[in-house]
Amino acid sequence: MFMPTPCDWDKRHIKELRHLINEYGYAYYVLDQPLIADFEYDQLFKELEDLERKYPALITPESPTQRVGAAPLKAFAKVQHKIPLRSLNNAFDRNELERFDQRIKEQLELSEICYIAEPKLDGLAVNLCYQGGILIQGATRGDGQVGEDITHNIRTIPTIPLQLRGENVPKFLEVRGEVYMPKTAFYQLNQEGKLKGERSFVNPRNAAAGSLRQLDSKITAARSLAIFCYGIGEIEQGKIPISQYRVLIQLKEWGFPVSPYSQLVCDISACWTYLEKLLGLRSQLPYEIDGVVLKVDDLTQQNNLGFTARAPRWAIAYKFPAQEASTQVLAIEVQVGRTGILTPVARLDPVSVGGVVVRNATLHNESEVQRKDIRVGDKVLIRRAGDVIPEVISVILEYRPENSTPFAMPQCCPACNSEIIKEQQGTIARCSGGLYCPAQQKGTIRHFVSRKAMNILGLGEKITNQLIELGLVKNPSDLYQLTIEKLSALEGIGEKLATRIVDRIEKSKETTLSRFLYALGIREVGETTAQLLAKEFRSLTALMISDEEQLQKIPEIGPVVASHIVGFFCQNHNREVIYKLQGGGVFWVEVDINKERNPNHLPLLRQIFVFTGTLSTMTRNQAKEKIQTLGGRVNNHVSSKTNYVVVGTQPGSTLNKAKELRVAILDESQFQGLLEQ
Ligand code: IVH
Repeated sequence: MFMPTPCDWDKRHIKELRHLINEYGYAYYVLDQPLIADFEYDQLFKELEDLERKYPALITPESPTQRVGAAPLKAFAKVQHKIPLRSLNNAFDRNELERFDQRIKEQLELSEICYIAEPKLDGLAVNLCYQGGILIQGATRGDGQVGEDITHNIRTIPTIPLQLRGENVPKFLEVRGEVYMPKTAFYQLNQEGKLKGERSFVNPRNAAAGSLRQLDSKITAARSLAIFCYGIGEIEQGKIPISQYRVLIQLKEWGFPVSPYSQLVCDISACWTYLEKLLGLRSQLPYEIDGVVLKVDDLTQQNNLGFTARAPRWAIAYKFPAQEASTQVLAIEVQVGRTGILTPVARLDPVSVGGVVVRNATLHNESEVQRKDIRVGDKVLIRRAGDVIPEVISVILEYRPENSTPFAMPQCCPACNSEIIKEQQGTIARCSGGLYCPAQQKGTIRHFVSRKAMNILGLGEKITNQLIELGLVKNPSDLYQLTIEKLSALEGIGEKLATRIVDRIEKSKETTLSRFLYALGIREVGETTAQLLAKEFRSLTALMISDEEQLQKIPEIGPVVASHIVGFFCQNHNREVIYKLQGGGVFWVEVDINKERNPNHLPLLRQIFVFTGTLSTMTRNQAKEKIQTLGGRVNNHVSSKTNYVVVGTQPGSTLNKAKELRVAILDESQFQGLLEQ
C-alpha cells in the first residue's frame, strides 16, 4: 500500500494542531471558558484526524484524537501501585476533629498547625502515571496495593491531560484524584437506561464506578465522567512542593482540575466554619460530596506524622450526616402533574435523612415501582441526594408484611376520571383530560406564576388551588381578570393581601418574551430553551408561525421539542389563551434585530462577571439577566479571564482569589453604576 511521506510542514502542522486543540480543550473542559466556537474546534480536530489518517506513523498516544478508539479489552490487567493508595480515618462530630487536632499538636510538639480543608468527593480514587509528561497509565485504587489498569477509559475523560502542561514536568509522576459523575449526567444516564428497560444506578458514585470498569472505552467515553485531583504519589526527578496548598497549585499548573473549594484553615474553629459553609453549598454543587478532608498543610510535618497501616496520621475525613435511611411505606398515591403525567408517590413514616425530615418519596412511574416491587407496608431504604426529591432505593424484603399486594396504576385519572394513555412503551401514563383536569389546571397555573416564569409572588399553592376549585381561574389568562373583591372572598385572604396580589399581577404584565414562553408551559420547553427561542425568533408571531423544519435549524432543538412547540401553537385554545393574556395587558419589548446586533447596544459584550456574597438590591438571577442583555456573561468561578468580581455582603473566598489575580472588584453600588452607564 502506498504510504505518503510527511514533509516538515505536515509534521509541524500536526504538532501545532495538537497544541491548539489541547489549549482550546483545556479552556473549554477544565476552565469552563471556551476560547473558540464549537464548530471551529471540530474543524481543527477534523483537520488533525485527516492528517493522522494520511500519516499514521505520526500518531502518538498523547494526541487528542487518541482519547477514544482503542479496541475493547478482554479483561483488566492488575497494577501494583508504587505507593499504596491509603484510606482515611473518619470523624463524625466536632469533638473527633478536636481530638485529631490535639493528637497532631502533641506528636509534632507544636501549638499551632495549619490545615487545608478540601471537599471529600464522592467518586472513585484513581492513580494516574505520567512518564516524561505523557499519560502512560491510569489505575483504580483496588485494595490500595493492587488496582486495575483502566488506562483506555481514563484517556476518554476530557479533563484529564494526556500531556502535562506548564513547567517543572518530572521524569515520572503519579497523580491521585477522584473520578466522579456529575449529578445531571447521572440523572440523564438513568433516564436513558429506564427508557431502554435497563437497571438504574443507585447513585452517581456507582454510575461512575460502572462506567470506569468498562472493557469497551467507547461506553466510558459516552458517560460524561470528570475528575478532581488532590495529591501526588511517586515523583522522580521533579520538585516536590512544600505544602498541600502548593501541591494543589502545581497540579493546576500541570493542567489537572482541582476543586475550587479547597481552603487553608488555621484552626479547628475555622475548619468548622468551612465545613458548615460547604454543607450549605452541598445541594447546589453539580457533583456529590460526602464530607470534608482535613489535611496537615506542611508536607514535612506530614512526613513526620507518617501513616498507620490503613491511613495517614496527618489527615482525617469528616463525614456529612448520612443521606440514606430506612422507613415504612404508609401509602402509595398517584399525583397528576402539569402535563398530565401520573407519578406514583410513596407516603412515608417521617424519617430524618441528613438532618431533613422526609415524608414522601417519588416512585417515578409504574414500571419503576414494579421493578423494585414496592408495596404499601414495606420497609424501604430511601436516599436524599442534594436538592432532588427523595427516592426509594430498595425494599428490605425481610420485613414485608404478609398479604401485601403489588402496586397497580389506576385505570382512570384520579383527579378528573379521564382515560389514561400510556406512552413510551408504557413507561409514561398520561391523563387525557388536558385543561379539563383540575390537577393539570393547578399545575399549569403554579408554573405560570412561578419565579422564573411570570414571577407573581403571593399566589401560592393554597390560593391557586382555591381559585381553580371555585372555578375563578381555568387558564392563565383568567388571572388577569381577578379583582380585589374576588380575591378577598377566598378563605384566609383579607383585603390587604388581596390588594397586594392584584398589585403583583399588575406588575407581572411587563415581562420578557423568554419568560412568557417559559410560562406557557410548552412540553420540553424549559427556561434555557425558552431563552434560546426568544433569542432566535425575537417575536412571538415569528415563533408561532414557524414549522418544525425551521425550528430544527437551531442546533439545540431536536425533532421532539420542535413537534411539541408546533403542536402547542396549533391548538386553538392555546392561541386563544395567548391572545387573552395580551388583551389582558401582558406585554414585552420585542427586540429590534438591528439594534441588538449593534455592539454599541451591548456595552458589556464578552465581559465576564463573577458574584460573591449577597446583593441587597437584586437577586443573582436578576443581575445575571441584566448582564446578559448587555452582552456579558456570568461565571461561577473567578479566573484570570474574569473581568469583574461583584462583591455583596459576606463574600466567600472568591474575593481573595480576585485580589490575588488582580481582577477588578466592584461593590454593589459600583456595579449598579456600571449597569446604568
Ligand atoms: S486524600 C492518603 N483527598 O476518600 C490520603 N481523598 O476515604 C488519601 N477522597 O480513597 C486520600 N476526596 O478516594 C483525599 N480531597 C480528597 C478526597 C479524597 C475524596 C476519597 C479518596 C479516598 C477516600 C478515603
